[in-house]
Amino acid sequence: MVDPRTSVINERLSRITRIIAVSSGKGGVGKSMVATALALTLARSSCSVGLFDLDFTGPSTHIILGARKVQPKEERGIIPPTVDGLKYMSLVYYVGDNPAPLRGVDVSNALIELLAVTQWGTLDFLVIDMPPGIGDAVLDLVRLIKRIEFLIVTTPSMLAFETVKKQVELLSELNMPIIGLVENMKMDKENGVDAATKKLGLRYLGAIPFDPKVEEAIGKGTKLLSTAVGVGLKEIARKFISKQKREL
Ligand SMILES: Nc1ncnc2c1ncn2[C@@H]1O[C@H](COP(=O)(O)OP(=O)(O)O)[C@@H](O)[C@H]1O
Ligand SMILES: [Mg+2]
Repeated sequence: MVDPRTSVINERLSRITRIIAVSSGKGGVGKSMVATALALTLARSSCSVGLFDLDFTGPSTHIILGARKVQPKEERGIIPPTVDGLKYMSLVYYVGDNPAPLRGVDVSNALIELLAVTQWGTLDFLVIDMPPGIGDAVLDLVRLIKRIEFLIVTTPSMLAFETVKKQVELLSELNMPIIGLVENMKMDKENGVDAATKKLGLRYLGAIPFDPKVEEAIGKGTKLLSTAVGVGLKEIARKFISKQKREL
C-alpha cells in the first residue's frame, strides 16, 4: 500500500523552485557548514530560502545557526520558524535531545513525517543537509522528493573522494541531477581532486580553504559568511544559480 503521506509531500514542496541536497559519501567533510552557509548566502541576496536538516546521524545546523529559543508552530502542519532570515526546520525538532540515533524504519518514518507536515510555502531555494553516504535514508529522500538536485562535498583526501565516486555512480544510475562538487577544507597543495572530478563527468565548482575562524563562527551566521566558507560559497553559488537571482 502506498503511504498516504507520500502524496502530500509533492504538494508541500510544489511552490519551491529549486531543491538542493548537500551531500557527501562521508561525515565530517563540512556538509552542514556548506549547507548552512549556502542557505545564508542565498537568503542575504534577494532569495527566499529554507534550510532543512535531515541528517539523522547528527543534525547540527541548529548549532551552526545558533537557533535557540525557536520552535516550529503547528497550524495544519508545521510552520518552520525563521532563523537568521531562513525558514528553518530540523529533525531535532522531531526527535528532541534523544541520544539514541534513529534506526531502520524509524528513520524512514521520521523523514516521511517531516516532509509531509512541514509547510514551506513559496521558496526560491530549499537547501537540505543530507545524511552522509548512500544508505536507505538517502534512497528514500530521492524517491520522495521529485526535482531534488545534489551538491556534493568532499575534502581533498582521496579517502573522502573514493566515497564520492560510489555516491556519484549510484546517483547517476538513479538519473539524479548533480550540480557539481565542492572541495572543502583545502590545504595549499594541489592534489588532483579537480581533475578526478572532471574525469567522473562532474562539474568542479571550486575549493574552500581550511579556515580556523570557522570554529569561532559556530552559532553566528553573519560571522560564518565572513570566513572562507562564506566567501567560497558565494563564488560557488554564483556558478549554479540563475542569472535573475545572481545579485550575490
Ligand atoms: N572550510 C573549513 N575550515 C575549517 N573548518 C571547517 C571547514 N569546513 C568545516 N569545518 C569544520 O569541520 C567539522 C566538520 O564539518 P561539518 O559541517 O559538521 O561536516 P559534516 O556535516 O559533513 O559531518 C566541523 O567542526 C566544522 O566546523
Ligand atoms: Mg553534518
